Amino acid sequence: MSYPYQIKSYDEYKEAYQKSIDDPEAFWGDIAEHFRWHKKWDKVLNWNFKEPKIEWFAGGKLNITENCLDRHLEKLADKPAIIWEPNNPEERTRIVTYERLHKRVCQFAQVLKNNGVKKGDRVCIYMGMVPELAYATLACARIGAIHSVIFGGFSAQSIADRLEDAQAEFIVTCDGAYRGGKDIPLKSVIDDALIGNKTVKRVIVYTRTRTPVSMIKGRDVWWEDEMQAVTEGAEALKSDGFGEVEVMDAEDPLFILYTSGSTGKPKGVVHTVGGYMVWTNYSFVNVFNYQPGQIHFCTADIGWITGHSYIIYGPLSAGATSVMFEGVPTWPDAGRFWDIIDKYKIDILYTAPTAIRSLMGFGLDPLKGKDLSSLKVLGTVGEPINEEAWHWYDEHIGKKKCPIVDTWWQTETGGVLISNLAGVTPAKPSWATLPLPGVQPILVDENGKEVTEKDEEGNYKGNLCIKAPWPGILRTTYGDHERCRTNYFATYENLYFTGDGALKNDDGFYRITGRVDDVLNVSGHRIGTAEVENAINMHAGVVESAVVGYPHDIKGQGIYAYVIFNGRHFDDELTRKDILATVSRIIGPIAKPDKIQFVSGLPKTRSGKIMRRILRKVAEGETDKLGDTSTLLDPGVVDEIVKGKL
Ligand code: PRX
Repeated sequence: MSYPYQIKSYDEYKEAYQKSIDDPEAFWGDIAEHFRWHKKWDKVLNWNFKEPKIEWFAGGKLNITENCLDRHLEKLADKPAIIWEPNNPEERTRIVTYERLHKRVCQFAQVLKNNGVKKGDRVCIYMGMVPELAYATLACARIGAIHSVIFGGFSAQSIADRLEDAQAEFIVTCDGAYRGGKDIPLKSVIDDALIGNKTVKRVIVYTRTRTPVSMIKGRDVWWEDEMQAVTEGAEALKSDGFGEVEVMDAEDPLFILYTSGSTGKPKGVVHTVGGYMVWTNYSFVNVFNYQPGQIHFCTADIGWITGHSYIIYGPLSAGATSVMFEGVPTWPDAGRFWDIIDKYKIDILYTAPTAIRSLMGFGLDPLKGKDLSSLKVLGTVGEPINEEAWHWYDEHIGKKKCPIVDTWWQTETGGVLISNLAGVTPAKPSWATLPLPGVQPILVDENGKEVTEKDEEGNYKGNLCIKAPWPGILRTTYGDHERCRTNYFATYENLYFTGDGALKNDDGFYRITGRVDDVLNVSGHRIGTAEVENAINMHAGVVESAVVGYPHDIKGQGIYAYVIFNGRHFDDELTRKDILATVSRIIGPIAKPDKIQFVSGLPKTRSGKIMRRILRKVAEGETDKLGDTSTLLDPGVVDEIVKGKL
């Protein structure tokens, strides 16, 4: 494959950027020509941010899996599409060529159909990082079902809420998943999630760990049995449309992915087929400066947007080899990533600052004897990268020879929006730098006015918004369009509000400083403070709680909870454990607070609003910078909170 739209120099970037702003329709229309369409679009772009209503390539007909699979078969049939590295390094690797991936996806698409799945149905996927997770995802896309992948670390309760919100009728899961030294019993979590569920008709279970599972008659079937039935009948099925795709409208939904916001309930972000395909492909090829034949290793889980866009859709639509790793970076030892790079001669490594910081903590021993010379490009995503981690990554992993791309984006943006392009545009440690073509950032103040005055350090500082749509922007939040409007398009008129704060320097480079709303970013995982508070408040002894973030050396942010407790109390430690168990049950282990401080009251204004600013300062250890506390209903509680700080 060649990519005529790949940017090769800084000048070309400037030219492409200008063109994308002057005439977005011509710019994206030209790029979209390079994909396989059943029918070309009538109009490249219709939009307004008021409703919002955004349509890319309206009237176009396509199937994204033909672009990820079928169109590569002629030249790349024998090339690995997915290289799968198991959790346990002693276990056999699986290499899935494009031909085989195509076959498996067609086969599983048929399984879905045999089980009653139709275009537009919602299929929830809750699996570990096995190739079958990619098959299931692509098989949904092939028949036009809407996939909703849920990360394996979410609890039964979280899954139940998502199933309900999406009105999902089908689930694909595994008996269990291996992650480091742990076996996670996924099917039994699904069984709990299904207690009281009224919509789910079928659960398809792939065997991975052979953990005992209860298969319910009439509802649960084994993946292997279903696949076998299709294989045996393949010839017969061929005449009956085996392997055929559902021809989709460009604006038909492709998937729902739930993510946290500042309210208690996660939102189902909806992406559509055409724009998402173009955006993930374009950003993949350009940000990583991907060259045909390279091997790309994105360490994210497919349960997050990073895995959707840069393990599955971006790399596969570009005909790349994508590495999928089942395990964790520190098991059986902290050299795991480096072994994988050495073993498969990885060209591009894309990971999170949290992983880098945690691996830094093991020193250089785990790197001994590992040949990392195949690496050409390094990337980071998910949270701000501190300079120390950036330099360690540059020096010890990239050996100062690999450009580092600091990619800023969100679940809602579908793919990278602000990043340097590897080796093509300049990098600056801890700065995401420049917007991709088609992306028009603007920094605004509280009132939505563009920031035009510099701060004392010579940067513009404000809330990061985007002025116009790019092809990968979310279209709605599932089942509740008004929520999409109020969350993203109502804060500032005619702007998409990201929820992030940023700096901009004289070169036009952006540095993301973190969320300005009540959303935390813990180890690159997005968690709403209100969600954690709701979970803590479920504990019978809790009267009220308030959750804030604080700087954490490895996780970036930690979760600090202030809790008013008047239940049965043995000692603080036991009660803390009970609260952690409650949060694990309601949301999942990823949302467990790092610190729980018991307090007798929370700082509130006379109108009853919690003054989070004060709680944040205490958690950050800046107790001398609490600011004005005179408007508090009871200023006395602040002294108690400061004294009891953990
Ligand atoms: O705060 C930003 C942070 O992660 C948030 C988006 O989280 P999520 O939707 O889970 O997607 C994560 C993977 C794309 C953003 O609002 N974030 C993401 N990338 C960066 C970042 N913060 C700083 N620098 C980044 N490169």
